[in-house]
Amino acid sequence: MELNIPKHIAIIMDGNGRWAKKRGMPRTAGHKQGAENIRKIAIACNELGVQALTCYAFSTENWKRPESEVEYLCKLPKLFFHRYLEELRKNNIKVTFLGELDRFPKETRNVIETAVEKTKDNTGLILCLAVNYGSRREIMLAAQQYASTCLEQGNVVDLDEDMFASYLMTNGMPEVDLMIRTSGELRISNFLLWQLAYAEFIFTPIAWPDFTKEELVKAIEEYTLRHRRFGGL
Ligand code: FPP
Repeated sequence: MELNIPKHIAIIMDGNGRWAKKRGMPRTAGHKQGAENIRKIAIACNELGVQALTCYAFSTENWKRPESEVEYLCKLPKLFFHRYLEELRKNNIKVTFLGELDRFPKETRNVIETAVEKTKDNTGLILCLAVNYGSRREIMLAAQQYASTCLEQGNVVDLDEDMFASYLMTNGMPEVDLMIRTSGELRISNFLLWQLAYAEFIFTPIAWPDFTKEELVKAIEEYTLRHRRFGGL
């Protein structure tokens, strides 16, 4: 089948904990395997010609998890980039992020900022990690920024959808075409609420650490078929 490659894929990487529990391992082992899988799926997306991949790595709600798990999740970017930054860089992948880094330990912030800096001139896949990200907060911050612009200018500045979108953290990224959520949950959990307005949704029962390139291609096949159906109308 000739694939219609989505420009921007967004993934809710769910099921790390259950993946680990099934194997008698601690939840953190599931997150570690989940991070490994980000590398695999990013390289696959890059090979397929996807322009951007946004992965929901840490939500504003995740701070409520047990302290040891939060601590581990905060350390993961360091492990991840220590191991894979060079490979991502060589593959022409550009790392970016969404979310407010200031709540993370300094070391985590530095590691993410370094990855962004070292890959900023790359022209292949944009690998965007959503960390300490929540979409309602993103939209609220955008509204605040817009209000500040109005105050500075002393009147109600004309606003349209494109202009409002430019206040969002995804400013400059292509529209999301396909959203995949792994591990059977049928929710969007405060992820890219504005940006998913026209996206296709695919929910798979497979846990994130088990989500392979083959599964990715299957999802893109399903996306291609849905598009063909719309094209025929
Ligand atoms: C949801 O699974 C997953 C998360 C809350 C964290 C996702 C994070 C990663 C995959 C790694 C991030 C890595 C980097 C480099 C930023 P869950 O724990 O809720 O699984 P469960 O529903 O089975 O318990």
